Amino acid sequence: MKLFAKNTAKLNGKVICPGDKSISQRVLIIGSLSNQNILVSGFLDGEDPLSTLRSLNQIGSDILFEEGIVKISRRDVAFNSPVTPVDLGNSGTGMRLMMGLICGSGMQASLIGDESLMRRPMDRVASPLNQMGANIVTSNGTPPVIINKTDIIEGFSYELPVASAQVKSAILLAGVAANKQVTVIEPSITRDHTELMLQYFGLNIDSKVHGSGKKITFIPGNKITAIDYKVVGDFSSAAFLIVAALIADDAELHIKNVGLNPTRCGLINILIEMGGSIEIKNEKDLCNEVVGDITVKSSKLKGIDVSGKIIANIIDEIPILSIAAAAASGETNISDAKELRVKESDRLEAISSGLLALGVEHKLFEDGISITGGFLQKDESIEIDSFGDHRIAMSFLISSLCIKNGVSVNDCSNIYTSYPNFIETMHKLGMHINEE
Ligand code: S3P
Repeated sequence: MKLFAKNTAKLNGKVICPGDKSISQRVLIIGSLSNQNILVSGFLDGEDPLSTLRSLNQIGSDILFEEGIVKISRRDVAFNSPVTPVDLGNSGTGMRLMMGLICGSGMQASLIGDESLMRRPMDRVASPLNQMGANIVTSNGTPPVIINKTDIIEGFSYELPVASAQVKSAILLAGVAANKQVTVIEPSITRDHTELMLQYFGLNIDSKVHGSGKKITFIPGNKITAIDYKVVGDFSSAAFLIVAALIADDAELHIKNVGLNPTRCGLINILIEMGGSIEIKNEKDLCNEVVGDITVKSSKLKGIDVSGKIIANIIDEIPILSIAAAAASGETNISDAKELRVKESDRLEAISSGLLALGVEHKLFEDGISITGGFLQKDESIEIDSFGDHRIAMSFLISSLCIKNGVSVNDCSNIYTSYPNFIETMHKLGMHINEE
């Protein structure tokens, strides 16, 4: 799907942020592990959570998604080893978290995904799980992931070499599924949705500050309580709306139901430091997460340096931060972000390729990018490749707010993995995005 986004000066209105992708996937897995009746509202109706839902049903869960509500039902039989490969589509979170659940439950399975997922590193999860007692074989570190039947050991402790919430969550979920104590030490703080959700459902998680990160231990003993769950909005999706409002000529947006977990919303402070007018209202707790409303207005942005511990917090927002940097005056330097090379695409290459098409001066490094603000207004039409990556596609569609002739982006269907009503939402706010 090729989309064309027309240049628009005015963006205005109220929107409700769609459900969080990370949390939607976790609640399906933890709810299935409980083997009890649980209702979930606010679930993200995106391709990634839906492929995790289908995969869980394939291993014996009973999950129905109807009229906006997820119904997880108690079943008579425990999980069973699937006979055909489990397909996680485009979802790295789905595959890595399912690896933890499948190993911890002592099942055998083979996990596959789409072209992008088949290229992504799975050894970062397979290796600690194997040390924990699993028997996983990958194809040179990438899928298919073949999981053989194994026994998880008691008291496993692992220090993550990369700050990754997916790896941390896979190890914790393996411990929970096997009912064995497990400890994970992270080098810097990563999103803590798994820990918060396990605690919400009554499990004993001890989480302490440890150096620049945290030491998290699951202590067996309690059973998962059957309580209903409400998924907060996805900050990573709200980020596109926030930057759109900041860089448009005349904008005022009110975004409701935005997840504001402090391990996720570091971009707000960065954008405020860049000069962005962003106001948070009505903050409250919802199922152990923080949620609130955000008001954003057009602003004059200036460049900033971003590196170190904050990178894990803003990792999914760097593509859209690059668009804010291109619209800002001065230079923005992003470093320590090598992880971007192993996301749904090599996001550093993808950002650089899009900025090149827009005539934005920049330098690409192995672990980051330095961007000098200012778009070149070309007379010819501009065509950008999304590299099949949803966040790259949405970021460059938003860049059209600064490009007089608008922007075409190729291969946009992956937007449905994380933000299925993105186009409709942008239309409602005043932007014109159409299929070409
Ligand atoms: C996620 C963690 C991050 C993030 C991804 C979702 C999660 O990945 O980029 O989109 O749900 O745990 P890493 O764990 O690889 O950093």
